Amino acid sequence: MASVARAPLHNPLGLLAELTHRCPLGCPYCSNPLALDPREDELDTATWTRVFREASALGVLQVHLSGGEPAARRDLLAITAAAHEAGLYCNLITSAVGLTPKRLAALATAGLDHVQISIQDSIASSADHIAGYDGAFARKRALAQEVVQLDLPLTVNAVVHRANIDRIGEMVDLALDLRASRVEIAHVQYHGWALANRSRLMPSRAQVERALALVEELRHQHRGRIVIDAVVPDYYARYPKPCGGGWARRSLNVTPAGKVLPCHAAESITGLEFWNVRDHSLTDIWLNSPAFNAFRGTAWMKEPCMNCPRREQDFGGCRCQAFALTGDAAAADPVCHLSPAHGLVAALSAVTEDSGYSYRRY
Ligand code: SF4
Ligand code: FES
Repeated sequence: MASVARAPLHNPLGLLAELTHRCPLGCPYCSNPLALDPREDELDTATWTRVFREASALGVLQVHLSGGEPAARRDLLAITAAAHEAGLYCNLITSAVGLTPKRLAALATAGLDHVQISIQDSIASSADHIAGYDGAFARKRALAQEVVQLDLPLTVNAVVHRANIDRIGEMVDLALDLRASRVEIAHVQYHGWALANRSRLMPSRAQVERALALVEELRHQHRGRIVIDAVVPDYYARYPKPCGGGWARRSLNVTPAGKVLPCHAAESITGLEFWNVRDHSLTDIWLNSPAFNAFRGTAWMKEPCMNCPRREQDFGGCRCQAFALTGDAAAADPVCHLSPAHGLVAALSAVTEDSGYSYRRY
């Protein structure tokens, strides 16, 4: 595997705490791995409490309580309180299904700072169809109202793909209606389960170009009312994104069973060795875990990244995508037009099918 980089080591700023893989929804674009952690392997409250303290000592400022659906954890209140007591800004990433107003209020009292709710579309029937859950849309609307009433800042996360990308304007209107302070237009990332649905989710180039122009217009129109975050979707970009700000540079992920990953999809790369919070402190993992050091900095790169002037900007793009598409995690992300495998991205984005989604169930 690649050599250890000599780049200066930053402190991580964010921790994604994947509390459970259990989830009531069945989204076809789920980026969780194909093999989900069983409930009996999930970390207990005391271990999460220790992880939050260690994260704070390591310089982490923000924790994202995620899943699956974090509300599936009976101890979510204690976990939230522990994150708050560790001094972390605490964001709950929720589907809104399974979280009652009473429980949300208790979380706010325990120190919850921010809530992010995912939406699947602006039309209820389509949203429920995409989520694979009847009534999900109505529950999301209702919980979003509770969030705002509790004076918690709300982000709406709209995952877009071929079926809903032409309704970005309506989804931004919905976010405004819900009094969200931010809306994320998140194009599907083809990792984990989403990869199996790629041809059913892939938008056309024309759809993407219309969407990018519309987002610019909407930003202008709604300046000062709502923040609109959006990036060019990978398969239609000229250069890749610095995935997660660069491998093992700014954040870490802890899986439900305690493995610590440099990024959400890292387990898809075969041959990496991940350490577990049950056996190592977070600081030890950040500094010494083989998986973290595998692609840290730029010393592991090969051509065309090795001598590219953008290598410190995008760090060669996404390692997981490079591995998924080329079988080599040290290759340039094929999204980059300089990659010898770039033709693959154009070819794959042209493959579409309209058969039913393959839903995720757990
Ligand atoms: Fe980024 Fe590598 Fe492409 Fe240069 S060649 S732009 S470093 S992915
Ligand atoms: Fe793993 Fe991009 S998702 S590096």
